[in-house]
Amino acid sequence: MDLTSQYLGLTLRSPIIASASPMNTDLDYLKALDKAGIGAIVLPSLFQEQIDHAFEEIDSLQQYNSPEASQYLPVNNMVSGPYGVGPDAYLELISQAKKTVSVPVIASLNGYTNTAWIEYAKLMQEAGADALELNIFSVPTDINISGQQVEDNYINIVTNIRKYVDIPLAVKLCPYFSAIGSLAQRFIDAGANGLVLFNRIMSPDIDIHNLDITSRYSLSTASEGLIALQWIGLLARRVNASLAASTGVDDYQQVIKYLLAGADTVMTTSALLRNGPGYVETLREGVCDWLKARQQKDLKLMRGQMSWQKLKNNQAYERSHYIKLVGSFLSK
Ligand SMILES: Cc1cc2nc3c(=O)[nH]c(=O)nc-3n(C[C@H](O)[C@H](O)[C@H](O)COP(=O)(O)O)c2cc1C
Repeated sequence: MDLTSQYLGLTLRSPIIASASPMNTDLDYLKALDKAGIGAIVLPSLFQEQIDHAFEEIDSLQQYNSPEASQYLPVNNMVSGPYGVGPDAYLELISQAKKTVSVPVIASLNGYTNTAWIEYAKLMQEAGADALELNIFSVPTDINISGQQVEDNYINIVTNIRKYVDIPLAVKLCPYFSAIGSLAQRFIDAGANGLVLFNRIMSPDIDIHNLDITSRYSLSTASEGLIALQWIGLLARRVNASLAASTGVDDYQQVIKYLLAGADTVMTTSALLRNGPGYVETLREGVCDWLKARQQKDLKLMRGQMSWQKLKNNQAYERSHYIKLVGSFLSK
């Protein structure tokens, strides 16, 4: 079975991609993903906060302007971030991952302001990343900031990063925008080659016993993927960029649904954390069996077969479907 897929101009042997995950810092784990037939690997994010901190250290040490001070430049004492990988170690991780696996390695930058951290994209390219995934996420706590301002900031970040790199660039975004289609178009115009729909946001919770704000990073469930399925279906064949589906790929059926909606690739983290890297093979086999049962040899026919465009603007993707659904609940 031929599962070859195109993503960001790269040819992948499979549409299944391991999305950013803490396990993707472990070279043995990456090797296992490769062996199981993964199409590409996204490294966990390097966060703007880590890079900003490193720059601050450089500034504070350089004010002393002495050879003694320079030995403390933050090569070894940068913040290591949530995954224990600081900015320098991250570049080393890219280069080691490239040597370890046979599939494309996508570096991930995660930030929210249009400032100096962006320059790190160039170093990631120089370290050998095949592509860059940019995860932009901010919480506009200032209630005077408009949606337009938030979007403009996101677009400026993409425009700026594009100036630093030639490698393909994907933007991973969250679904909480008023008009995903227009924003997607703006990202593409700013230089994005692909969109990852969607980033999964962890919101804070309240502990009613200790009166504390808590947050916990849980793994996803399949039903969380429906909003991504809808937007992949709405954008497929209509935007000039690759579409990667992300969230809720619990089993091979989800992979098939995303491909039918029109995804070029399908990303997974939670399922791999639950089942281990060998689960890629199970997902792959499920897709192959589905194709075989329909006498299809590759993904060409199925991809986008259930997209909004292919179904001629099917109302199931739209508001009228919602009205029908709420009505059907009462008539049960
Ligand atoms: C423990 C954990 C760590 C993650 N770290 C990152 C990260 O560093 N950067 C990022 O863009 N996404 C990160 N993600 C999000 C995943 O890449 C993915 O987008 C999200 O989990 C939805 O996919 P899933 O439903 O297959 O888990 C992380 C997810 C988990 C569960």
